[in-house]
Amino acid sequence: MSKLLLCIVVVTDTHIVDKVVECEHNETKSTEKIALENKFKEFLKDCFKKADVSAYTKVDLANDERKLMLTLYCDQKFLDCGAQEFKNNQAFRDLQVQINKLENKTEQGIYHKCLMYIFKK
Ligand SMILES: *[C@@H]1O[C@H](CO)[C@@H](O)[C@H](O)[C@H]1NC(C)=O
Ligand SMILES: *[C@@H]1O[C@H](CO)[C@@H](O)[C@H](O)[C@H]1NC(C)=O
Repeated sequence: MSKLLLCIVVVTDTHIVDKVVECEHNETKSTEKIALENKFKEFLKDCFKKADVSAYTKVDLANDERKLMLTLYCDQKFLDCGAQEFKNNQAFRDLQVQINKLENKTEQGIYHKCLMYIFKK
């Protein structure tokens, strides 16, 4: 999966991360979904504090969106922390169910294709 392809420390550079950010921007989201995703990030507040993507020296990390992408996809400490939070927090799990209900298969397909296109080359 493209997730792993993004997470290659010696390869991943600013350009690649910016492309992924662009795919994310190109996804059409309802305001409802955006609101739920913001809540989702709120649950992960403490996990974000543990995140460290400084190993990605080819990426200009001055930009918060780039940092966010690398964190969400690649940072193992963050991902472990998130999994733990998910396990321990019923409200967080309920939120995930709500978000899943709003997933649009067409949009998901477009996003997936957009990512695949980046890593094809
Ligand atoms: C995002 O959408 C714009 C406008 O439709 C398009 O030009 C651009 O290539 C898209 N970006 C990606 C990464 O697909
Ligand atoms: C899903 O996304 C597509 C493409 O953006 C859009 O045309 C369609 O109306 C959306 N469907 C729902 C149920 O929101």
